[in-house]
Amino acid sequence: MVIVSPSMLSADFGKLYESTEMLNNSQCDWIHIDVMDGVFVPNITFGLPAVEAVARRAKKPLDLHLMIVHPEKFIDRLAEIGADLVCVHYETCNHLHRVLQSIHAKGMKAGVAINPATPVCVLEDILEDVDVVLIMSVNPGFGGQKFIPRSIEKIRRLKEMIRREGTNTLIEVDGGVNRETGKLLIEAGADALVAGTAVFKAENPAAEIVALKNL
Ligand code: DX5
Ligand code: ZN
Repeated sequence: MVIVSPSMLSADFGKLYESTEMLNNSQCDWIHIDVMDGVFVPNITFGLPAVEAVARRAKKPLDLHLMIVHPEKFIDRLAEIGADLVCVHYETCNHLHRVLQSIHAKGMKAGVAINPATPVCVLEDILEDVDVVLIMSVNPGFGGQKFIPRSIEKIRRLKEMIRREGTNTLIEVDGGVNRETGKLLIEAGADALVAGTAVFKAENPAAEIVALKNL
């Protein structure tokens, strides 16, 4: 069954505790939190105090998506807060190998996110150090954007690369994921789906999570 990681970016920020409780009681596997800095992406969202507030209540693994320059500065702090998976953007790391090592050294899983314009082949020599590749199927920065169809082909290629390298790397996809695109993504080889709008703007978010789980 596919891993479902609802993105809290689309939740009502005035009701963070309620949304976290809803996710705790739902069938979701992870909780996806989008940290942005207004530099790498043209938006600012959760800062660390807000992540901490969610972490205090969350009973599911926290899937942190860092859309920030110099993500290495915050790894110790994220470990203290209790993050389980930390995804950094390939485009923000001059020394990606070192950053991944420091995430692992703190006992967390390490992920690498790639923008729509970044090909999967750039990860070939680092794959064995990556627990999760986060394929961005929209340009990072905002929820509610339109899915970029080319992402399907990227997943196929990445799946093939993982098979070739013999690693246990998971493929997670983020942006414009709903029941329709989710099905295509799973067929192409996705292991985990991030969904913001599809879950939080649904009439019944918990039921939408079940629907995505059962795709
Ligand atoms: C976008 C974020 C996503 C976002 C997805 O930069 O990384 O996690 O919340 O939102 P939807 O599912 O609405 O595309
Ligand atoms: Zn995200």
